[in-house]
Amino acid sequence: MQYITWIPGDGIGPEVTGAACEIVRASGAAVQFERIEAGLTQGERTGTPLPAAVFESIARNKIVIKGPTATPFGGDFRVRIERKTEQGVIEARSHPSVAIALRKELGLFVNVRPVRNYPSVQSRYQGVDIVIFRENSEDLYTGMERMIDEGTAEAIKIISFRATERVAKFALDYLRRLKRKKLTVVHKANVMKMTDGLFLKTAQETARAYQDITLDQRVVDALCMELVMKPETFDGLLLPNLYGDIVSDLAAGLVGGLGVAPGANFGPDCAMFEAVHGSAPDIADKDIANPMAAILSAVMMLRYIGQPTSADRIEKALTQVLQEKRDITRDLGGEAGTRRMTQAIIAKLA
Ligand code: NAD
Ligand code: IPM
Ligand code: MN
Repeated sequence: MQYITWIPGDGIGPEVTGAACEIVRASGAAVQFERIEAGLTQGERTGTPLPAAVFESIARNKIVIKGPTATPFGGDFRVRIERKTEQGVIEARSHPSVAIALRKELGLFVNVRPVRNYPSVQSRYQGVDIVIFRENSEDLYTGMERMIDEGTAEAIKIISFRATERVAKFALDYLRRLKRKKLTVVHKANVMKMTDGLFLKTAQETARAYQDITLDQRVVDALCMELVMKPETFDGLLLPNLYGDIVSDLAAGLVGGLGVAPGANFGPDCAMFEAVHGSAPDIADKDIANPMAAILSAVMMLRYIGQPTSADRIEKALTQVLQEKRDITRDLGGEAGTRRMTQAIIAKLA
């Protein structure tokens, strides 16, 4: 039995991860969910958006399924984490959001976001099958920002050899396992000469040991144009944190939108599965959100924990529901709610 920490999150999070957990249970997977609250709502209720209980649960279970957590735009919202070191000293750190705090504190150094066409899901393109590898620990996401004076703010961008080599190796090994052939490094090294220059050079050097994978490179602006012109020509993409964030939403739009884009964060000690999308406050609590991205994230989880039979079963049931088009959500052109689509998938689990 695999125990899993389940963080429902904010907005549509409880609806879509609730659907995913229900489907995982119905698939016969040998898992048990331990539900723990975190997020903006939790913070408003208790003063602590990311309670210590979350880390205690993850330390035990090592596997997390997480719904989106909301982060206010601007302002001074920070997620403060206090940890006792082995010497008994209390160390405090703060992060810009709950999702970032979890990724950083848990050492989840890579965010994998696969983007592909799904049967019967309408999109402008065919033949899209891209795996996005987003560096997850540094870049402009370190949260080192400050007001220099009332009218000027600065942010610090960090790129290190160590983190870049680690994520590049991960991406190359991952592609090799899938027998895929190309990794495109994405950067802005013409302007960010030191930071993105180091990212590009490190990825290129790391790839020399992988004769079976061609390393390609693109400047991020040109990449965006090419992605919307001929997305089928890309295979793996390796990006620093911020470009990875932006390009993963763009890429979701190539195959049907945020409702169909799953994701996973990996580190040496644990893994956290969360969709690309956010808490979608505009559609929260209305039973209209598409649960597919959360379900596909759970499918990634089942494969990772060595339960591929349940994963296959869920994918097959989902495919049937998509093909029949009767019980699909509005973003997919249907009129079913989250719950109806979920029950339709469960009914198809063979
Ligand atoms: P969003 O992804 O929540 O929503 C963007 C658009 O996509 C909205 O129109 C929304 O209705 C739609 N959408 C998203 N998911 C959908 C789904 N499953 N089914 C149907 N439609 C869906 O982006 P946002 O509005 O910019 O962000 C809202 C909040 O979520 C912000 O506070 C942001 O910081 C947070 N966020 C959290 C995470 C995370 O925790 N992993 C990820 C992204 C955004
Ligand atoms: C994502 C989100 C997060 C990010 C936000 C909510 C901090 O956009 O998971 O893509 O930027 O990483
Ligand atoms: Mn994002």
